[in-house]
Amino acid sequence: MQRRPFIGGNWKMNTDLASGAALAQALGAASVNALSSIDVVVFPPFPYLQSVGRALNATAIALGAQDLSSEANGALTGEVSAEMLTDLGVTWVLVGHSERRHRLGESEALVAEKFAMALASGLCAVLCVGETLEERKAGRAHEVVVRQLESALHGLSADSLREIVVAYEPVWAIGTGVAATATDAHEAHREIRSFVSSRYDSELASGIRIVYGGSLVPGNAKTIFAEPGVDGGLVGGASLKAGDFLSICSAAAIGIATG
Ligand code: PGA
Repeated sequence: MQRRPFIGGNWKMNTDLASGAALAQALGAASVNALSSIDVVVFPPFPYLQSVGRALNATAIALGAQDLSSEANGALTGEVSAEMLTDLGVTWVLVGHSERRHRLGESEALVAEKFAMALASGLCAVLCVGETLEERKAGRAHEVVVRQLESALHGLSADSLREIVVAYEPVWAIGTGVAATATDAHEAHREIRSFVSSRYDSELASGIRIVYGGSLVPGNAKTIFAEPGVDGGLVGGASLKAGDFLSICSAAAIGIATG
């Protein structure tokens, strides 16, 4: 099955009002021809969603949020609901990013609630999974990833999962400058697809997009994207420079071996 490549730019807690809008404008101006064959989404910080959304208006780049509340509304100081995001033109959301799991203490149960909330609210969700270095060294990488998937997908129907993206992001590769090898990425993606196939069916498994994240840069994107089963990437640091991000997008547009 042909899968449309996906590239996400996770800006994390970076940029400011002016530089975020300028980055979005630079991406939007370049997007017209170059990006028509792939899905490109940027994930700016909450306070800049509106201005970045304006800058991306009428471009091929979609607006995403880095997180959402597991609750619909109410007395939850500091939280941001799915409905608020939709109101701002957000169509994508990251769920279970490793920084939220490991630095901000999000449990697998909370990640699962947020994921279910995103889907129930009509948002497209990127579910992030990945093992720590310790877990990899102990030979537990695949087991950890499968456990995270089992927890987040529990109780969800195959139909509700057709549009999701799974981001395989080994924790040891995020922000370290040490990307996974193409072989590591290939193996992890194969495990994820085979889990989806055994838990649901082969149709969902062959249609679902699985992207790689962790120190992706223009210099390694082509090699990683050439692996069968790698459908694109989630880009952190390199998404803050328009030129680098666009070059990763082009690598996805021309080089992804789908199927
Ligand atoms: P990085 O971040 O590209 O800076 O390693 C990736 C991510 O956290 O999504």
